[in-house]
Amino acid sequence: MLNPKEEKTVILIKPDGVKRGLIGEIVSRIEKRGLKIIALEMFQPTKEQIDDHYPKDENWIKRLGDKTKKNYKDYGIEVEQEFGFNDSLEIGKSVRGWLIDYMTSGPLVKMIIKGIHSVDMVRKIAGSTMPAQAEMGTIRGDFSVDDAIAANRNKRGIHNIIHASETPEEAEHEIKFWFSPEEIHDYKRAEEDIMF
Ligand code: PPS
Repeated sequence: MLNPKEEKTVILIKPDGVKRGLIGEIVSRIEKRGLKIIALEMFQPTKEQIDDHYPKDENWIKRLGDKTKKNYKDYGIEVEQEFGFNDSLEIGKSVRGWLIDYMTSGPLVKMIIKGIHSVDMVRKIAGSTMPAQAEMGTIRGDFSVDDAIAANRNKRGIHNIIHASETPEEAEHEIKFWFSPEEIHDYKRAEEDIMF
């Protein structure tokens, strides 16, 4: 089994995070936790890159539609009235399209984070996908109040500040997709002997 200290994950600071000047805040929260940044760069993605970044298989798109429908149900709002249809796959396709528009609306900051259970740790630091439901103390809970219903009414992606890989397998795929080997660095953090 991989040493948990070797686990890596990918963060993309989204256009709202960059434009609101939250890069330093996000970097600081990651570093203070004891996680190590081993790659970092600002760049403008193309539509094709973002289209390839998010999965294209029907199950993932349908799941996106299902999650969106659940969010509407939790707030007692008729999904069909808002979207004009009720099919999870169709809803997922609309959401995916808005997500691509949003993710290409400005520069992103890409990072690779290394450290103990980094995938779960970073998702914890990020908070729930829907900022309106994210716990205080998380990045999304502290800096955003957006949610699916507000976003989708304006036919846009949720402004939830960062993307973080969901599983170690997804992280591995995203590292290969977004980074070349020369962009990845390793070094010893000063507190490594004391902290972990
Ligand atoms: S997550 O955090 O990866 O588990 O998010 P997930 O629920 O699977 O959703 C995948 C990405 O789609 C975005 N999303 C939406 N945007 C607009 N409208 C709606 N309804 C919606 N639902 C989900 C969500 O922010 C995820 O983007 P990333 O970049 O992965 O955070």
